[in-house]
Amino acid sequence: MPSDRLIVGLDIGSVHVRAAAAKLDQSGEVRIVHISEQPSQGVRSGSVVNIETAMNIVQQAVEEIELETGREVSQINVGIAGAHIEGVISEGVVGISRKDNEIQRTDVARSLDVARSIDLPLDREVLHTLVQDFSVDGRKGIRDPIDMIGHRLETKVLMVTGDVTACQNLRKCITRAGYTEQRLVAQQLADTEAVLTQEEREIGTLLINFGGGMCNMIGYRRGAPVYIGGISLGGNDITSDLVYILNKPHDLVEQIKQEHGCCCEDLIDEEHHVTLPPVGGWPSVRIPQRELCKIIEPRVAETLTIMKTMLQRRRVFDQVCSGIVCTGGGAMMPGMVELASHIFGAPVRIGAPREVEGLDERYLNPAYATAVGLVLYAAKRGRKSTPRQEKQTAEYKGGMLKRMKHLFEVLF
Ligand SMILES: Nc1ncnc2c1ncn2[C@@H]1O[C@H](COP(=O)(O)OP(=O)(O)OP(=O)(O)O)[C@@H](O)[C@H]1O
Ligand SMILES: [Mg+2]
Repeated sequence: MPSDRLIVGLDIGSVHVRAAAAKLDQSGEVRIVHISEQPSQGVRSGSVVNIETAMNIVQQAVEEIELETGREVSQINVGIAGAHIEGVISEGVVGISRKDNEIQRTDVARSLDVARSIDLPLDREVLHTLVQDFSVDGRKGIRDPIDMIGHRLETKVLMVTGDVTACQNLRKCITRAGYTEQRLVAQQLADTEAVLTQEEREIGTLLINFGGGMCNMIGYRRGAPVYIGGISLGGNDITSDLVYILNKPHDLVEQIKQEHGCCCEDLIDEEHHVTLPPVGGWPSVRIPQRELCKIIEPRVAETLTIMKTMLQRRRVFDQVCSGIVCTGGGAMMPGMVELASHIFGAPVRIGAPREVEGLDERYLNPAYATAVGLVLYAAKRGRKSTPRQEKQTAEYKGGMLKRMKHLFEVLF
């Protein structure tokens, strides 16, 4: 349905705050109308650490959208990520007591309610309930139990939880910026929308967002998410290492990293030298690119290895690592594909946002995956009310849940 309503996604990153605005065209397809970008402040490793400063940046980013589109922004889909985002597996079992034993939507809703009712620590907030799998009378791997005959329906879900205070601080920041209607979306789900193909989700793929202050992961198998998590290490740590070792100012080092950095020694061109300009009273220095690589590679390898270990500890590594897709600004580091495929022992590709109508070529860049993904995520769900209302809409609106495929998509 065509809509004049703006769909806004806000990615509050550690390095950049990016906002994407989109509309739905006649055929219901998303058309990006504007993307704004501001250097970030008051955010560390994905969490707001200074509400006032972060709020100002958010205001600037959203006001630019309003100015460029001539529309007031009423609702914002805000990405949330960081090491505090975790996935908890839960199961809900219900009996089908109807005479004909036919499973209906209300049974699925009941089983989801049971799955959701697990005791979580008080400092955790549930952000999403992602359906993994259904079983009917013990038969596992059922994607669409509706209309099936059975006595017992089991629903396995991945509950995505976040730290309560991190969620509250993020909400407070957006509210103070003047936008009270907001919806927190795990960034990994947004990245998925922008970058991962349906086939990749089926075969088992790990999507890594290599950001500035953190790396976020989501792993898929048979079309459903089986793992979600993150660590507080990212591209900024590489820059900090270079600043420390080269003893040069941060901005200069950041530029050199982006222009000459490489994280795989095998790709180094021995002729490639980098000139560090004179700083203060110190003369300019010429160093081989290999020297830069010797600083960058161990940090990237360490970051990727920590993620691999987390997957192995949760016993999901083999399920989700048929292939790896790297997105986020840090994924643009040359050598990322080679190093990551060596560490994970799987093919790796760099994931930029898929082509969307109205999306300028310069945004087909991994750094914009989350912002673009947030509007794609919101548009797919077509929701504009509170999560509770949204859940009811999804569960009871005629046709929405006709096929289970939609359940996977809707009940997030
Ligand atoms: N060409 C490049 N080569 C290497 N690294 C790059 C390149 N371009 C950007 N980066 C790195 O990407 C990181 C920023 O990525 P991104 O914009 O995705 O972060 P963010 O979303 O602001 O932060 P986060 O998601 O961690 O909160 C920085 O560390 C930057 O140095
Ligand atoms: Mg990011």
